[in-house]
Amino acid sequence: MKFIIDFANLDQIKEMYEYYPLEGVTTNPSILAKEGKNPYEVLKAIREFIGTEAELHVQVVSLNAEGMIEEAHRIQKELGANTYVKIPVSREGLKAIKALAVEGANITATAIYTQMQAYLAGKAGAHYAAPYVNRIDNLGADGVKVAKDIHDIFKKNGLKTEVLAASFKNSQQVLELARYGVGAATVAPDVIEGLVKLDSVTAAVAAFTKDFEGLCGEGKTMVDC
Ligand code: G3P
Repeated sequence: MKFIIDFANLDQIKEMYEYYPLEGVTTNPSILAKEGKNPYEVLKAIREFIGTEAELHVQVVSLNAEGMIEEAHRIQKELGANTYVKIPVSREGLKAIKALAVEGANITATAIYTQMQAYLAGKAGAHYAAPYVNRIDNLGADGVKVAKDIHDIFKKNGLKTEVLAASFKNSQQVLELARYGVGAATVAPDVIEGLVKLDSVTAAVAAFTKDFEGLCGEGKTMVDC
């Protein structure tokens, strides 16, 4: 499972990249709005930091296919190779996905709440389909199950489209999908931090440090004991 960060603040992205095995960045209009700057300024800085090999996912906001396609062209022009244009899977979105797939664009079908949205997006030529796991849970359905179903539908129908699961609120949702082997997950920094924040680990490390200090003295390590 590819592990991607769902965020647009460059300082925090840099810090998270230092600590975690991240493989790209996804954004959406709400995430970009939090930065309060021109979106291309923010996205170009992210692109410069992650390099041209890493995936950068950027969403369109137009409501009709023609507008989405026009936005996709500008996004690709500004941000270069390995940029994935995120297109919500509405009726108009499917029209845009079909047209952009013919051009060879990298497309992430987004705002997915149902298995059939994902199936149609895959058939239309999207590279990724992004089910909103936690938002689906909040509707009283099972977001993890929807993401797993989509993964199975792609495999069983011979589609190359991969799941890029999004909208996580806890470690369990991420774990379940890693265990299932979905293609990718994009996770916000607070949830990423939660994946390793375990009191038992902190307690174990503290006990090792205390024992070692008893042996070699306070503040000593394997470097200077
Ligand atoms: O980009 C779509 C998705 O990641 C949204 O997540 O946390 O706003 O439900 P969230």
